[in-house]
Order: sequence, then C-alpha cells, then structure tokens
Amino acid sequence: MELSRRTVIAGATAAGVAAATAGGTAHATGGRKPVKSLFGKLADGTKVHSWALENGGTRLKVLSYGGIVQSLEIPDRKGRYANVSLGFGTLEDYVANSPYFGALIGRYGNRIAKGRFTLDGKSHQVSVNDGDNSLHGGAQGFDKRVWNVAPFTKGSDVGLYLHYTSVDGEMGYPGTLRTKVTYTLTRQGDWRVDYEATTDKTTVVNLTSHVYWNLAGESSGTVYDHRLKIAASRYTPVDSGLIPTGKLAKVTGTPFDFRGTKAVGEDIRVAHRQLLYGKGFDHNWVLDKGITRKPEHVATLKDPSSGRTLKIATTEPGLQFYSGNFLDGTLVGTGGGIYRQGDALCLETQHFPDSPNQPSFPSTLLRPGQTYRTTTVHSFRS
Ligand code: GLA
Repeated sequence: MELSRRTVIAGATAAGVAAATAGGTAHATGGRKPVKSLFGKLADGTKVHSWALENGGTRLKVLSYGGIVQSLEIPDRKGRYANVSLGFGTLEDYVANSPYFGALIGRYGNRIAKGRFTLDGKSHQVSVNDGDNSLHGGAQGFDKRVWNVAPFTKGSDVGLYLHYTSVDGEMGYPGTLRTKVTYTLTRQGDWRVDYEATTDKTTVVNLTSHVYWNLAGESSGTVYDHRLKIAASRYTPVDSGLIPTGKLAKVTGTPFDFRGTKAVGEDIRVAHRQLLYGKGFDHNWVLDKGITRKPEHVATLKDPSSGRTLKIATTEPGLQFYSGNFLDGTLVGTGGGIYRQGDALCLETQHFPDSPNQPSFPSTLLRPGQTYRTTTVHSFRS
C-alpha cells in the first residue's frame, strides 16, 4: 500500500500530453502540470489515483475516489506550509469511515426530509442515510464514486476535469445526470471549482464540496480561535433532525450573526435552541447577494496565529457553516493525530437544504435541455 501510493505513473492520455506540452507556461508562474500516482485499490480491484497539482503557492492533492481533496497546503505569513484540510492517508480509511472529508457532494448536498419529494406530480423516494432523512446524496453519494479525471493546463492555470455519470434511478434520483466538475489552481493560488450537470429527465441537483478547514493545519487543535465573517443577514432555522422549518430568520442579536468578524467559538456555547439541535453551528446562511451570475465574495476565514486566510466567492445563494460537531475523537487523520469536535469547519456553498420540499426556497430543479452551472472560488492569503 505504502509502496504503491508512491508509484508515479506518467499521464498517457491526450490530455496528459497536452498538459506536458503546456506545462512550461504554468511553470513560469509556479505552476506544475498535474502528476498522477496510484493511491490504492477498492475491494473490487478498481484503481484509485491521486493527482498532485501546484500553482501560485497552493499545493493540492485530489483523489479520483469522490473527487476528494486529500490535502491542500498553503503557506503561513512566514512561508511555512501546512495541510489545512482534514483527511486520511489511506484509501481504506476513506472507504470505511469518512465523514465526507474533502469530498464532492451529490446529487443533493445536505438534507432532503425523509428522502421524499414530488416532481411534476410524481413522488420519489431517495436513499435515507441520516436518521429519517437523506444526507449528501444518500448512502452511496458522489463522494463514494470513482470519477474520471483528466488533467489540463490553460495559460497560467493548472487543473483537473472530473466526470461522473449517475445513472437514472441511482440512489432513487430520476434521470441520468452527467456531471462535470473542474478544479482549477490559478496563478494566484486560488482553488476554483466549477460544477456542471445535465439530465435526461426532470430531477433535482445541489452539488458542493465538503472540505474541512483548519487554517492552523490539520491536527493542530480546534478552530474556535479562527475569525469568520459571513455576508448573510438571515439563516434557515432547522428542526431537531436538521431539516429547515421553511422560515428565514434574522441573524441580528443571535449567535448566527457573523456579519462582523467574530471568533468561531465566541458564541458556540450560547444556550440557543438552534445550537442545541446542531450540536454547534450546522446551518445554512442565506447569502445577502442571492444567486449571482459571477462568483461574489461571501465569507472570510482567518487564523490569527498563522495569518492564513481563506476567502470564498460563489454564485450560490446559500452557505452551510458546519463547525465539525460530529467529529468525536474516533478518527485518526492524515498526520497521525486524532480528530475531535471543533477541529475543523466546513463552508459548503449550496442551494438551501430540503429545497425540493420548500416551495419558497430557490429552486433546485433541473430539466432536460438545461445545464446546471455553479462556481465557487477559494482564495488564500497569509
Ligand atoms: C454537513 C451536514 C452535517 C454533517 C456533516 C458531515 O455539513 O450539515 O450535519 O452531516 O455534513 O458529518
């Protein structure tokens, strides 16, 4: 396993050759053509590869399994690198145990109540895997699928195209969904994610990425000192099963007000019913900008000790801020440390949870002939 993960396989595809040819341009700005290596094998023998990319000071490792960001390294204010995303060192751990570490989430990010919804008068039952509800696409979501990965370089950008076709009826969802996700590392070191999907039957789609951020480095303790700012005046309160009630509540005067910069841990122990339901923050913020054609800046996360800063821009109307509440000290991470509650947080750009059952929420419907397109950009500074 150790040995095989280190075996570097030269990219032999047409895209690989193109990448090699164009690699010089990217190199000039710190970019490096994506390098492929074997990460492991699934029980049925399917090979899972790891792709290493670097550009503008950001180093990224992506797995073909789940499109997982296995590691994301950025420098601190003194130039010292750390892996700021939680994960595992082996494929076996990802398959056995992962709470969506670094993964692509589909077909539907977050929850659908009872896994049920009606489209054009027809009711659908999708896979239920979180109490009574469906979470992150069901039992075998996009995070557990092997994606087809092809590298590219474009001008000074380097990146990966990830393709996955979800067949009609998979996890109960109607329509064959052809999904393309593009991971780009820009010359500034930004990690840009472009999502695209088409269907042959009316369906619902809500794709996102589930990176667990700790800007001080994974396994360095909790993120409660990180400063967070979210450009949202409202959020969607939930019931005890974390399903939105359908109301949009004002953040004013509540622990959910992150409009001014605030430490993640400052209000996390306030006896607010919503924090009891979530065991901390696990809610969808209604971004003030709404749906936009171009990605707009919506959140900033800063670790004061290292100076590392993450800025998120998106076209999406919602942001799930999850404060790592279910990490319970039972997983050993990439660097050999144990992950405990609050050791990382997720900022998942999305449409709102349970939208298929909430007529007042922005629609997640996708019809044949339409193309689903969203973009989220992660920028790093120190
Ligand atoms: C999302 C959900 C959380 C939890 C995590 C994974 O952020 O909202 O409730 O399921 O994923 O553990």
